Amino acid sequence: MRKIEELKKERNAVILAHNYQRPEVQDVADFVGDSLALAMKAREIDADVIVFCGVDFMVESAKIVNPDKVVLFPNPNAKCPMAAMVDADGLLKLKDEYGYDIVSYINTSAEVKAISDICCTSANAVKVVKSMQNGVIFTPDENLGMYVKRFVDDKEIVLWPGFCPTHVGIKVEDIMKLKREHPDAVILVHPECTPEVIDIADKVASTEGMVKYAKETEAKEFIVATERELCYRMKKEMPEKEFYPVENAICPNMKKITLDDVVMSLEKMEPEMVLDEEIMEKARKPLEKMLRIGR
Ligand code: 13P
Ligand code: SF4
Repeated sequence: MRKIEELKKERNAVILAHNYQRPEVQDVADFVGDSLALAMKAREIDADVIVFCGVDFMVESAKIVNPDKVVLFPNPNAKCPMAAMVDADGLLKLKDEYGYDIVSYINTSAEVKAISDICCTSANAVKVVKSMQNGVIFTPDENLGMYVKRFVDDKEIVLWPGFCPTHVGIKVEDIMKLKREHPDAVILVHPECTPEVIDIADKVASTEGMVKYAKETEAKEFIVATERELCYRMKKEMPEKEFYPVENAICPNMKKITLDDVVMSLEKMEPEMVLDEEIMEKARKPLEKMLRIGR
């Protein structure tokens, strides 16, 4: 869209978008990726302004690792319900009880990150938990935590009972139906899905991990068990392959940002993500620790 290009130049802005954003928003983005790739990208951007098309915790993370930049959040109503399932007070009580370090999924508020020892995303959760010396409290995604447990047996992992409504809505039957229709398709599953769904996966990966795997394998067809918009990016980057989404796997919050919101935010230079300095400073440590571990 010409207007967005002009505004981007005028403001010296870069647009980052998550893989679940509307197709038209992905199309105007300079970079589309998973939570980890977006956090890494936000850190290395040298434009003055970042327009972040994602949900609250992603935009907060971009601001935390980049406090001197203007970070615009085109629709602040786009909030991840899983991130709202954990609060700092409850987590501190659990820490008192067990004395373990807190590993926070990036899908958490800045306040929760501020009391965490390290963050992780779905791309590096196993690696992060393996790097810890003692037992850990893993929050907020119980399904991701249970998935991590499959690979870590040298420490106790206490799970917080949070979940992603979009991913727990994906049922084994949804996938088996697609598999009957497309018997040669490889089953890709996000680790926020339930253990029963993970059990029937050919490959479990973050959204970026799914894109990478589909590019590298010889397979031509894929059942994609995550938010359905990832298939838009996959088809765009791999037009010769076929991607079958779970039709009802939609994250309503990821759809709240429209192209009009993006234009408006660049025109008015708002809404801007603003966070308490002290919280940002505390939250930066676990985020940076995670970014050093990488993918
Ligand atoms: P990814 O980091 O795999 O893109 O996941 C983000 C998310 O919110 C999954 O629901
Ligand atoms: Fe949150 Fe789930 Fe939406 Fe991801 S898909 S942003 S975890 S509600």
